[in-house]
Amino acid sequence: MSVVVNQVIKAYAEIDRPIFDGFTTTVFKGEILAILGPSGSGKTTLLNLIAGIISPDRGSISINGISTSQLQKQKKIAYAFQEDGLLPWKTAEQNIEWPLTIGSKTPTLGNPQEIIELMGLRGAEKQLPNELSGGMRQRVNLGRALITYPEVLLLDEPFGALDAFTRLRLNFDVSRILRESSLTTILVTHDIEEAVLLGDRVMVFSAPPVRITKEIIIKTRLEDRNQFWLESDNFRDIVKQLREKFLIQDHEG
Ligand SMILES: Nc1ncnc2c1ncn2[C@@H]1O[C@H](COP(=O)(O)OP(=O)(O)OP(=O)(O)O)[C@@H](O)[C@H]1O
Ligand SMILES: [Mg+2]
Repeated sequence: MSVVVNQVIKAYAEIDRPIFDGFTTTVFKGEILAILGPSGSGKTTLLNLIAGIISPDRGSISINGISTSQLQKQKKIAYAFQEDGLLPWKTAEQNIEWPLTIGSKTPTLGNPQEIIELMGLRGAEKQLPNELSGGMRQRVNLGRALITYPEVLLLDEPFGALDAFTRLRLNFDVSRILRESSLTTILVTHDIEEAVLLGDRVMVFSAPPVRITKEIIIKTRLEDRNQFWLESDNFRDIVKQLREKFLIQDHEG
């Protein structure tokens, strides 16, 4: 399913400048779009618009021509929120299974046990969220998004609270999952290297009103993005270009 954002205008009453002022982009079917941008640039707002949680003031968002609110009902969109939003009275395992228990039964990407294994949560599955570390909670959150078999996956800083080692391991695992499915994914992250490692395309947002200040298509196939690629000139060069864009933006802004 491709996501079409067409001439979207969105302002919050509390802020004088609109966040989006005629913003247009397309995320193609099966593509992984990574979005980088300064804090407060509107990344979460864009995901909320695509998920149908908030509506644009003007313009439209559709997925294969269908409105986002309709798709949300069909559970075609899975959204891992920036704040994890886990149910505090449910264990890690119950939180992961939760999307399967509401509404109609949906096909799954893996059974709960597989997801627990994949997320490295074996042994912690009976613990409540307040008994989990920040990184573990994030992994539960991610597992919960992956368990339904969505067509569009929205990830808002899904690896933010993880230590560097766990983060890299999960990056590779998630990369494999995304490669094996035909999920259309939008990944918001602060981490330039993570964006390049996972994205088919990396987009940099300016401060509001949002402009796309840089867009790079990553040509290396996902299956070839291994630890050797991370040390290649090609990878380093892309990261450098993006970092420079950030620094110039900061300087301007
Ligand atoms: N519900 C809201 N009401 C009013 N202002 C809001 C609301 N949600 C977001 N904003 C404002 O809109 C701007 C963009 O917020 P948003 O959360 O989309 O940024 P972000 O790029 O996700 O930032 P971060 O990287 O810090 O998560 C910010 O200035 C924020 O204060
Ligand atoms: Mg955000």
